[in-house]
Amino acid sequence: MAPAATTPSDVGDFWEPQAYSTSAPFVATSSPTLVQLLQAHGSERILDVGCGDGEFTANFIDSAGFVLGIDASAKMIKAAKSRFGSEKAEFRVVDCRYLDKEPPIVDGSWDKVITNSALHWILRDEETRMPTFKAIHAALKQNGRFYFEFGGHGHVSEAFTALLSMLVQHGYSMEEAKAINRWFFPSKEWTQHMLEKAGFAVEMIEVEYRPTKLTDVDEGGLAGWIQLLGAPMINAIPAAQRSQAVKQVCEILDPVVTKPEDGSKWLGYVRLRGVARKS
Ligand SMILES: C[S@@+](CC[C@H](N)C(=O)[O-])C[C@H]1O[C@@H](n2cnc3c(N)ncnc32)[C@H](O)[C@@H]1O
Repeated sequence: MAPAATTPSDVGDFWEPQAYSTSAPFVATSSPTLVQLLQAHGSERILDVGCGDGEFTANFIDSAGFVLGIDASAKMIKAAKSRFGSEKAEFRVVDCRYLDKEPPIVDGSWDKVITNSALHWILRDEETRMPTFKAIHAALKQNGRFYFEFGGHGHVSEAFTALLSMLVQHGYSMEEAKAINRWFFPSKEWTQHMLEKAGFAVEMIEVEYRPTKLTDVDEGGLAGWIQLLGAPMINAIPAAQRSQAVKQVCEILDPVVTKPEDGSKWLGYVRLRGVARKS
């Protein structure tokens, strides 16, 4: 019998800006290719979908005309506003699964839309996938471009496996465990197909296997990463059992992710990256 769970459709705001900068500071800085592709300049209006704490957005605020960062987490948006908010950079709470319900944003006025490391959360629910792609398309000016990078098929598969297995050990069936999961890591082919169906011409799409070194600071490291990014699965078990569950997941992962020569820990990040033009 499965213990009471958070529902898959509403896991609450588990994002913590402090924990994010301790356990995953590399997310905002590990996408130089995407920032180079964007080439923000002049008076361009740029929409950043799933902007988080604004650390990634800050890569192009100075070179763009105006930037709007949107994210479902009120805590991340509060952090982004306080650190990077200005006349040139606004941040707003928006659940991008329902971006099509935001006419003031989806108004065909954006030169560019960018998203880094957020689509694999936003696209989790099947019924809102195409509406999200279509809303991004509608938000852009004609010939405007969508620049994206997110977790592709096989992303952090060792951590994903250990978290699913933890849920099964706590009494969930595999079907229930899969439903609790909030990640969606599609293939290049699927992504290209969906973008074309939404009206984009895909100009570039690629997959990069990019092992990523975890931090080694207190509160960060493997346990910090599992606790924050695995929160929807960890929070599905009773509160009293969570710290022990994180410990067990880390024990299973440790021999897989640790480099024997120096003890550093790495997760298998798979980046799916591309550029699509509104045609
Ligand atoms: C790994 S963080 C990436 C943040 C930022 N783009 C960066 O590069 O640092 C993922 C972000 O996706 C956001 N997110 C997840 N689901 C979302 C949704 N349905 N709508 C909008 N943002 C969402 C989270 O709140 C979180 O801030």
